[in-house]
Amino acid sequence: MMADKVPSIRLNSGYDMPMLGLGTYNSFRPNEVGDAVKAAIEMGYRHIDTAWLYKTEPEIGVAIKELIKEGNVTREELFIVTKIWDNCHEPEKVEPACRASLEALDMDYIDLYLIHFPLSFADFERTKPTATDYLDTWRAMEKLVDKGLVRSIGVSNFNKQQLERILKMDGLKYKPANNQVEITPYLAQEDLLQFSLKNGISTTAYGPFGAPGQNYVSKDAPKLLEDPTIVEIGRKYNKSPAQVILRYGIQRGYALIPKSTNPTRLAQNMDIFDFKLSEEDMKTMLALDRGLRNNFQTFKWKDHPFFPYKE
Ligand SMILES: NC(=O)c1ccc[n+]([C@@H]2O[C@H](COP(=O)([O-])OP(=O)(O)OC[C@H]3O[C@@H](n4cnc5c(N)ncnc54)[C@H](OP(=O)(O)O)[C@@H]3O)[C@@H](O)[C@H]2O)c1
Repeated sequence: MMADKVPSIRLNSGYDMPMLGLGTYNSFRPNEVGDAVKAAIEMGYRHIDTAWLYKTEPEIGVAIKELIKEGNVTREELFIVTKIWDNCHEPEKVEPACRASLEALDMDYIDLYLIHFPLSFADFERTKPTATDYLDTWRAMEKLVDKGLVRSIGVSNFNKQQLERILKMDGLKYKPANNQVEITPYLAQEDLLQFSLKNGISTTAYGPFGAPGQNYVSKDAPKLLEDPTIVEIGRKYNKSPAQVILRYGIQRGYALIPKSTNPTRLAQNMDIFDFKLSEEDMKTMLALDRGLRNNFQTFKWKDHPFFPYKE
């Protein structure tokens, strides 16, 4: 079946993470995300990415419960990722936040629980920055593993120095299993990727298509899916620009979580395991790197002590 074709990354926790997952940010219409999750799982997706911030956990939970009940998939076959939001970084807030996500998903455990950003705030809306150190959050995250609430823990939007700080912290019990960051052909993140590979930290690319239509991206951002070089490479393999971008990521060794709620595009994004980009085309893709970060919204907090995008 299709699902067998999706390769996995063995995490440093010993669990396997499928390299292609489904993004669910900004799927707000009722049933939109539930229907997408059902369609995706039926066509072989096993890795689902959500977050407390997205407010999609409840619908995802209902959709998955229905699929399990119908016998289409088992909980063990799925890899569910969610993230703790910036207003719960204080150690005493971490377990309640995790339990709230478990309740929203109606699940017994989370496969991978991430610190969404190194940035901490007193409120959900991010109006009051705080100086809570993510190292203290990390210690509380480790306890979630020991309590069996989560299988693996990781981070998101962390830069190399921030990963290094965790790796070097006193009494570290579990290394981050994953760092979820923006990666596109225009933002290759080669240095961070190589550092992470060397240290046994897997990487997941968010916004792989440049997040067209997503509200955290500038309307003036260049249209990655129309890049002539990517279009041209796609023609050679009879694949779409989206498929070339995903395949490029798989061959570089990171997982990708494209978002779609459209069944045709969901299927297209899964249909990337029957071709391989040549070494030359991989080099051409890598040369498109221009350090262009789409997540411009986060720059609003550039004075936060843990602002990550200033390496
Ligand atoms: N950790 C973080 O801070 C963070 C930040 C941002 C995102 N994320 C995660 O990463 C996921 C993916 O990022 P994203 O949703 O921002 O952006 P994205 O996956 O790069 O782009 C999604 C957009 O591309 C369209 N699309 C999907 N497949 C396509 C295809 N084959 N051809 C043409 N267009 C296609 C989708 O439209 P349709 O739905 O109409 O197909 C949607 O408008 C998110 O959903 C979220 O789970 C994490």
